[in-house]
Formats: sequence, structure tokens, C-alpha cells
Amino acid sequence: MSTPSIRAQVEELRQLLRRHEHLYYVLDQPEVSDAEYDALMRQLKALEEAHPELRSADSPTQRVGGKPREGFTKVRHSTAMLSLDNALNEGELRDFDRRVRELLGGEPFEYIAELKLDGLSMAVHYREGELAQAVTRGDGEEGEDVTENARTIRSIPLRSISTLPAFEARGEVVMPNAAFERLNQERDEAALPRYANPRNSAAGSLRVLDPSITAARQLDYYAYFYLINGQFGCPTHWESLETLAQLGFKVNPNRARCADVDALLEFIRRWEAGRDSLPFEIDGVVAKVNSVDQQQRLGWTAKAPRWAIAFKYPPRQAETVLEDILVQVGRTGVLTPVAALAPVNVSGVVVSRATLHNEDEIARLGLQIGDTIVIERSGDVIPKVVRVKMPGALRREFVMPALCPVCGSHVARAEGEVAHRCLNSSCPARLKESILHFASRSVMDIDGMGEALVEQLVSQGLVRSLADLYELKLEQLLTLERMGEKSATRIIANIAGTRQQPLARLINGLGIAFVGERTGQILARTFGSLDAIASADEAALQMAEEVGPKVAQSLRRFFDEMRNQELIARLRLAGLRFTEEARTVTVGPFTGKTVVLTGTLPTLSREQAKELIENAGGKVSGSVSKKTHFVVAGEEAGSKLGKASELGVTVIDEAALLALLNAAEGPAADNSNSAEAKDVNA
Ligand code: IVH
Repeated sequence: MSTPSIRAQVEELRQLLRRHEHLYYVLDQPEVSDAEYDALMRQLKALEEAHPELRSADSPTQRVGGKPREGFTKVRHSTAMLSLDNALNEGELRDFDRRVRELLGGEPFEYIAELKLDGLSMAVHYREGELAQAVTRGDGEEGEDVTENARTIRSIPLRSISTLPAFEARGEVVMPNAAFERLNQERDEAALPRYANPRNSAAGSLRVLDPSITAARQLDYYAYFYLINGQFGCPTHWESLETLAQLGFKVNPNRARCADVDALLEFIRRWEAGRDSLPFEIDGVVAKVNSVDQQQRLGWTAKAPRWAIAFKYPPRQAETVLEDILVQVGRTGVLTPVAALAPVNVSGVVVSRATLHNEDEIARLGLQIGDTIVIERSGDVIPKVVRVKMPGALRREFVMPALCPVCGSHVARAEGEVAHRCLNSSCPARLKESILHFASRSVMDIDGMGEALVEQLVSQGLVRSLADLYELKLEQLLTLERMGEKSATRIIANIAGTRQQPLARLINGLGIAFVGERTGQILARTFGSLDAIASADEAALQMAEEVGPKVAQSLRRFFDEMRNQELIARLRLAGLRFTEEARTVTVGPFTGKTVVLTGTLPTLSREQAKELIENAGGKVSGSVSKKTHFVVAGEEAGSKLGKASELGVTVIDEAALLALLNAAEGPAADNSNSAEAKDVNA
């Protein structure tokens, strides 16, 4: 049962979290670090878990709840969500203004200018202070109920301080440019097609059935209408915007009261020049007559209000000729095709390069060198190619180079990836990243080998390959900026010390695509030496646990590459450990014992448990027989458990296993633990 004090604590945490969410997501003025926020959230989650009777749908813990739905239900809007008429130039805006002035018969009035955010509109309903329903615009009369998804948008309050029994906010759901870029990068990595623009991806993200997907997309919401029972809630639009801000909504601060059409035009020009500095896309400016009384007298046409207009900016597109496709190699070795364009002015900026992302994107666009194309600039991102306008008379197809344009090594595209990568881990384009990875804590652990030092080593030409690290001389290091004798000596000693690092770490350090810490351990244990791995064919490599065709192919390609063979030969000469440490344990608490693992253990992975048992002298077997000494069983243990009881084999859990292992003493067990402990601290 929850005591009143726990109830109070829960409520206090909720209020605190709501305040911090508002500060962070709406006002963009966080007062606590992400870690502090997360800690509060964890506290609240723990309390709610321990006291289910205190759970509540408006708790900050409940943004992503529930399961994906089957579909969306249609909901009628309180009043139609109509669209706006457009003005495409100054003349059309002045026409609109003249009509307004005429219809108001010379009465004084003012406009409110707001940015026209490029997203999709959505109505959010609150009842008794709680977010009750969110509905997309749909056809204007009827939209789709996307409540569960809207709840994941952090700038939409789940609770409102409003004392009204019900009210409605209408506004725009947008995907900030940064979130859009990130999303497309993830889609590249997953070999999925890119989204064309932030608006499409905002729409796609709001209309998915699984709210956890919406949550991951980092959408934002800006409110611009405040309604009570389907009617405007304040006498003026400006007051509505201020009320919405007071109610905790995000309201775009870039708005202005304009006395006449000239002031409006001034605002429009200012933001046309300033739009690149915004964190989201806008496609124009919306002007609304401020007084709701005047709005009502101006009235509506069948599709739009007569008291508002959308001034649309021209799309920032231009036509030009694709003169060539160049290939850049990024710091992770990924090859990116870049369009070389006949220079062209796109709304004030001369553009001569555009990104093409990858080979699939070029195919999707049907692009060939010599074509006349349409390019577009958006936000402050690199211009992109929109489509082919006219195929060139002498067009020529682009082929990804088979050799890296920087180092001449082979290039490969892995299964399920859109990217081509240079296979040489010492390629100058990726050398800095390669060294930083090699030196990092969980890999070779070279203390002091940070970004600044690596930058200098590479730019001064002191290190051209990972193997050069082992040949660095004190005098060379002393020529670097801010490098004294003491730290230089220490760095050389730290590098030398890595010669003893276990084989698994070296494998990880080589920078082979898809081969990280865990695969390194498995390979080292399975093959026992780097030479055995390097000479195994794909079929043999796949005999190792968790190594599938993709990893095997990547390993094979790596070891077949001449530059990598050179690297390995030099690392061997440098005296690095190329074989798995022989297990020195002969006597331990598990000597002569055969153990079977089944089910999921609470803390140890199967690999870890196996290693601990083997280090204690035991053997791990896959099946239970009369010769089995123990079965270690975790969650969801299967048929092995039945077999054990049938044969009368002792069954223990992880805690008992650890207790038995802790009885282990001696250098071997200590050895294995120190490597683990280091990883944990990393
Ligand atoms: S007012 C009846 N204000 O633009 C008035 N719309 O072209 C309807 N939009 O459907 C909208 N920012 O999706 C309004 N500050 C803003 C807006 C805005 C973006 C979108 C909205 C609307 C479309 C109209």
C-alpha cells in the first residue's frame, strides 16, 4: 500500500519533471543536466512500479505507453480545419490587403505575422486538464486520432494548468532539421530509402502505428490557435498566442504585430533572408487579422478564411548541369558521391556542389553525368539534387570506383549496406579515426592518445599506418606542440605496453567492419591466433559463434587487402600478441568438472559464464549427460533442465555458480578478472 507520504513524493516528482520538460522542450532553457533529469525520471518510474495504484496517464513516465495499434480511428473536428489562400508575390499580398481594408470599410485593424512552419497541422484536445485527444487535419472535416503518438512529442503538455473543463490547441507538427538529418543517416545505415524532406518525415512519423517509433523521431509542436468549444478562445489572435504560451505550449517567438501591409512585407523579407538560421523549415509567412470580431465579419470562403493569408516563399530550387560526380572519402572510410555542378545562384547563394549520399540515391534519381537537373537548398544543409530535368545528350553513367580515390585500396559494399567503404584501415582519409579507435580504452587502451595528439601525429606525417605507432621515437614526439619530455616518454611507454594486450583487443583494434569487442573475443577464442583467422575461408569463419555471412565476408575482404596484410606483418614485427593466451589453469575449483549452461542468466552473458568456468579449470558442454557435474540454469531454461532432473544432475543458479567460482584462488582466475574489470571501467 502507498502511504500519503509516498503519494506526495510521487506528485512532487511529477511536478518537478513537468517543470524541467517545459524548460527543456518548450522554452529551450534547461536548468538541470540530462543526467539529473534522467535520475528524477528513474526515481518516479521506480515508485510507480512499486505502487501501481498511483499510476496515472498524465504522469511524465507515460509518454510512450501501450502497444502499437491496428489502425487509426476517424474523428470529426470541433470546427473545420481549413487551409489558407496563398500569395505568391508582393502584388498578391497587396490584393489581399486591399480586400481586407475594403471589407472592413476603413476601420483600423492590425495583422499578426507568424512564420509558416513546414509541417502538418494537428488539433490537441484537453479535458479536465488532461491531454485527451490529438487529431490530424485530415480532409479538414475529419482527421485521424493520433493521440498515442502525439503524447510522445515532448513539447506537448500531458497535463494543462488550465482550469477550463475543455479547450483545444491547434498547431503544427514539425521535424527539426537536425532530427531529419539524423533520421536519414540512420536510414542510410539500415539501407532504407531516404526521406525527401522534413515535412514528409514528420507526417510519416506521426502516422505510424507504433508510438515508440514516433517517440524516437524527435518531433516538435508549435501551437497557433486556441479554441474553446470550437470558437476562438480570446478576443484577439495575439492574446490567443500568449495564452497558449502561458498554458505551456511552444509558440513560435518569431511573430510580430504589423500595422499595415508594408510592415508585413518587412517581416516577410526579413525572414526570407533569415530562414537558414532557424532549426526547422519554413515555407512562408502567415498573416492574420488580429481582432476576432473583425475576423468574424470578414468571414470565410468555402475553403479558407478571408482574414488570413499565407505568403509563400519561392522554393529554393534552380536548374543546372551535372558536370561530374566526384567521390569523397569520409573519416570512417565511407565513399560519398558528390555532384559537381555548373555554378548556379539559388536564392542568393552560389551553389557548385550537391550531395548525392550514395549509389542507391543516384539510381533512384536516374541521374547521369551531363544531365540538366533541379537542385534545392534547404535549411543550412548541403544542397541536394531533386530530379533530372532533362537527360544530357552525351550523358554518361556513374560507376562507384573499385579503388579508393585516396589510397588506391579496394572498396567494398557490404551486404545490407548502402555505403561503399575503403577497406584499408590505414587509409589517410580514415587514419585519424582508425588510430583513435585503436587507442581507445576498450581496445588497445593507449593512455594519452587523444584527438589533439592524433591530429598532430597524422598531419605531421609521423604516423601513416597503425604500425607506425610502435616506431615512434622520443625526438619525433618532442617536435610536437605542447609536448614535453615527460609526457613524450610516458606516451611511448604506454604504446609499448599495448604489445601485451590480448589478441581479442588487437582484432577489435584493426577496424574491420562489423567486428567489435565481442566478435573479437569470439574469434580469438575460437581460432586461437590471428594467423588462423587471417587464413580461414568464409565457411570456416562462420563456424565461430555469432559469425554470420556478413561478418565472415567483411573479415575475408579485410585480410585479402594488401595494405592490411602489410599492416599485420609490421604489427607482428613490432611484437604484438598474435595468439590467444594459453589457459594456464590446471587446478581450480572446477578442474575436471563439466558444466552445462541453459537459459538466460541474470547478469552474466553466456560467453562470460563460459570464460569464468573455463578459467576455473572447468569445461562447458552443450548437452546434459551422465558425465555433467552441474547445470547452471537461468530464465526460460529449456529441455536441458528436464534432462538434468531425469539424470539426477545438480542444478544451480548464477548466484551459486558465482559463489563456487569465488572460492577460486590463484593467478589464473585473477588474470581473467582484471581484463574484465578494465572493460567495465572503460
Ligand atoms: S493558420 C484557417 N498559422 O499552413 C487557418 N497555419 O497553408 C489555418 N501552417 O494547414 C492555418 N504555420 O498546416 C496557420 N502559423 C501558422 C502556420 C500554419 C504553418 C500550415 C498549416 C496550414 C497551412 C495553410
